Amino acid sequence: MSDQPHIPVMLPQTLQLLAMTPGKIWVDATAGAGGHLRELIAHGGAGSTIIAVDQDLETLSALEKKLKKERETNDIRFAHSNFRDIERVLDEQNIDTITGGIIADLGVSSMQLDQPERGFSFIKDGPLDMRMDTTSGVTAEHLVNTLPERELADIIFKYGEERLSRQIARRIVEHRPIKSTRELENMVSPVVLRHRKGGRNRDESHPATRTFQALRIAVNDELGSIEQFLRAVVPRLAPGARMVLITFHSLEDRIVKQFLREAASNCICPPRHPVCVCTKRKEVNILTPKPLLPDHEEVLANPRSRSAKLRAGEKVA
Ligand SMILES: C[S@@+](CC[C@H](N)C(=O)[O-])C[C@H]1O[C@@H](n2cnc3c(N)ncnc32)[C@H](O)[C@@H]1O
Repeated sequence: MSDQPHIPVMLPQTLQLLAMTPGKIWVDATAGAGGHLRELIAHGGAGSTIIAVDQDLETLSALEKKLKKERETNDIRFAHSNFRDIERVLDEQNIDTITGGIIADLGVSSMQLDQPERGFSFIKDGPLDMRMDTTSGVTAEHLVNTLPERELADIIFKYGEERLSRQIARRIVEHRPIKSTRELENMVSPVVLRHRKGGRNRDESHPATRTFQALRIAVNDELGSIEQFLRAVVPRLAPGARMVLITFHSLEDRIVKQFLREAASNCICPPRHPVCVCTKRKEVNILTPKPLLPDHEEVLANPRSRSAKLRAGEKVA
């Protein structure tokens, strides 16, 4: 594991929006290194219950050990699960509704990125895995070596917003099988660098960034999980309970934005309908009309926060 201290993203904004009061049930749906979780524990006060969810078993076990002391005096429960199954997590804990609030700080953690054996890194060599939950699902190696070229290109284009997706997919397919992150990086970078030399692309990030991100999103079905999570969690929020959602990718943010907009509306009839015929009722008040962004100082101190967007909502009474 990395020795670098973990800095939770947009912490003051998160705490302000959660407006924590004692004696309630709080959920961290993406517990990770415990940065936000520790603050939930510290601000939850007496009589609170805190549920820490993560789909990465290794991360969750490490966290459970790290919080040994806090567990002696607080009701902290750990659930190894994808947050898309939040209903099952709550049922297993005999929790009907989340009375305080829930936070989801999406994406991959620094710990996962920094461990080459997890297969997320294009800097250090490792097996081409990329699963956040290593106990199930298919690996990046499987996708890269079995998908038809066109599907592979579509994934790289859609989730990585990589304009060179077709050329990259062609090169990957020509050189299959590809087993390691280094081999994949060696397939992708020359294609991107050749294009950058032509002066048409001013992006200075690592040339394999977009392709690796795309594969990671596909391997973990990150967008599908968010959709399912949002639909499942709102009915389980008590009136007044809050949700804070931090995204790092435009597609994630779009899902959250559209979901909140729909949840906050009193009618989803097509605009040309003369009278409302739907049974939709407002479920959520939007607390952030525009997404909150990290300030300049936070981005300087923690470059991983630079693409963060925070949106929040409150269950209506
Ligand atoms: C950005 S980190 C969270 C960092 C954490 N807020 C902190 O301050 O330490 C994201 C974490 O969420 C987990 N995660 C991502 N998607 C998930 C999902 N669908 N279900 C459960 N956990 C997920 C990852 O395994 C990772 O540990």
